[in-house]
Amino acid sequence: MKLIPYSRQCIDESDIRQVVKTLRSDWITQGPRINEFECALSKYTGAKYAVAVANGTAGLHLACLAAGIKKGDEVITSPMTFVASANCILYCGGKPVFTDIQEDTQNIDPEEIIDKITKNSKAIIPVHFAGHPCDLKRIQSIAKKHNLIVIEDAAHALGAEYRDSKIGSCKYSDMAVFSFHPVKSITTGEGGAVLTNRKDLYKRLLLLRNHGIAKDRKKIKKTGSWYYEMQHLGFNYRITDFQCALGISQLGKIDKFIDKKRKIVKLYDRNLSQISTIILPKERNYVKSSWHIYCIRLKNASVRRFVFDKLKKYHIGIQVHYIPVHLQPYYRKNLGYKKGDYPKAERYYSKAITIPLFPGLTNREVEYICSNIKRILCQ
Ligand SMILES: Cc1ncc(COP(=O)(O)O)c(C=O)c1O
Repeated sequence: MKLIPYSRQCIDESDIRQVVKTLRSDWITQGPRINEFECALSKYTGAKYAVAVANGTAGLHLACLAAGIKKGDEVITSPMTFVASANCILYCGGKPVFTDIQEDTQNIDPEEIIDKITKNSKAIIPVHFAGHPCDLKRIQSIAKKHNLIVIEDAAHALGAEYRDSKIGSCKYSDMAVFSFHPVKSITTGEGGAVLTNRKDLYKRLLLLRNHGIAKDRKKIKKTGSWYYEMQHLGFNYRITDFQCALGISQLGKIDKFIDKKRKIVKLYDRNLSQISTIILPKERNYVKSSWHIYCIRLKNASVRRFVFDKLKKYHIGIQVHYIPVHLQPYYRKNLGYKKGDYPKAERYYSKAITIPLFPGLTNREVEYICSNIKRILCQ
């Protein structure tokens, strides 16, 4: 039997046609598809500007640079995330300061943020864990009071909604960063984007994405059309045209993808809610999750390894999201974090299992997964 992965891309013939069309065109990178994809992302999310980049990590790095994060600055983020959410702060010389999580959403707890703010605090990076939006209004009000920049790590959350807006609209933040890795809401293979409503940030992001090289019209006129000027230390974080062709095609299907995932979530709820030894993920009433992943919690952490190994034996590709970032050896060694620093995140980690959720998952596979979970937990 083939392994059922915890997530995977959903690519059809129309996606492939769009990529092939671009591969046959004059431009395979730095052509018209990039701007088209950026416009489509702006239109979908409601943000004024979008900058497509090589991957979500590059997007987070550029967002931190554009926000002016530098040596000595502290940036508050969640320990319950992929390492990229905190590494981007280190890339700029800043210090990641973690804040414990809400036990129902696994998102950063806004009330705990307040305790972590010091005179060195510069920004907050809330992470929309599993596609469930953070309480952005509260985070924004704390940020405004303390003059902090808010960069949403929205890697999981394209298509999610918070109150009256789509994630990525930046209604309650300065920037939002998406990832288009194959397990995300839509894919471009590798890829990402930074969204913002602020023109100053947009201009900096564009510059830094391309080596910090600017083309000043006046200077070009004076010197010649070859002229370019490196004004900042930027990077090559560009994305290609054929990736953006895939992104445009995928974005056209995102609502269908999320509807399909919501149907699967309902099936899981119906089939698994009677198991008394697990807790299922739920949405708060002011959000619509993009359901990036479906993470169940075992009430008894001591059986997690047993349940995990058994499900793997049945070819169910479960995962654990995430090992709290502060417990990673690098963070312990270089930043002095230790076990016990963030008890809610650590408790959640000890009990969590991610079970498969992606648009192509069939009802039969869902039934198979549920019946095996029941077999293991209810025997
Ligand atoms: C929360 C979070 N942030 C950032 C990233 C980095 O995205 P990418 O893999 O596109 O660099 C990921 C990737 O999984 C993620 O889960």
